[in-house]
Amino acid sequence: MFKNIGLAGIAVLLAVTSVAQQKKATAKTPPTTATKASIVAGELVYTQFCVSCHLPDGGGVQNMNPPLFKSSWVNGDKSRLVTTVLGGMSQQEIDGERYNNVMPAFMYLTDKQVADVLTYVRNSFGNKKTAVTVADVKPVRAKMPK
Ligand code: HEC
Repeated sequence: MFKNIGLAGIAVLLAVTSVAQQKKATAKTPPTTATKASIVAGELVYTQFCVSCHLPDGGGVQNMNPPLFKSSWVNGDKSRLVTTVLGGMSQQEIDGERYNNVMPAFMYLTDKQVADVLTYVRNSFGNKKTAVTVADVKPVRAKMPK
């Protein structure tokens, strides 16, 4: 049946198959563009507000500021993570360690800035987790003490 289609015919067949495969791949991963944009925006927030304590590689400072990798807070429940950034944190045991510094509250960041910086953190320093969105931040902020 395909005996006489020639090289041009094969090329067309290959092109059709490759377009079909590309479509499949896009359909499977629809949030990547939004997540990528959020990571890029989040890096800027991190550089401005977080890097002084948690450092560029997310490694923190021993006994002072915790690392943001292999962290059950970063990689765990999103509401708890959002609460940590909006409300700050001190004197808590984190994955079996204690830190002397105080994490300030970041209520003045917008929902988008909080979502972006946490999406960045959850996809940097070896972390690979789903994005945090504005829809994750809003209800947590609404419940925070004013
Ligand atoms: C002044 C230093 C400081 C700054 C600035 C700071 N943090 Fe923290 N952060 C801390 C300290 C100290 C803790 C641990 C507090 C404790 O021991 O209870 C902490 C804890 C955390 C935790 C939970 C514990 C962990 O290791 O996962 C996260 C997540 C976090 N910070 C993210 C951020 C993000 C995101 C920013 C920027 C928006 C930021 N921090 C800015 C000092 C800081």
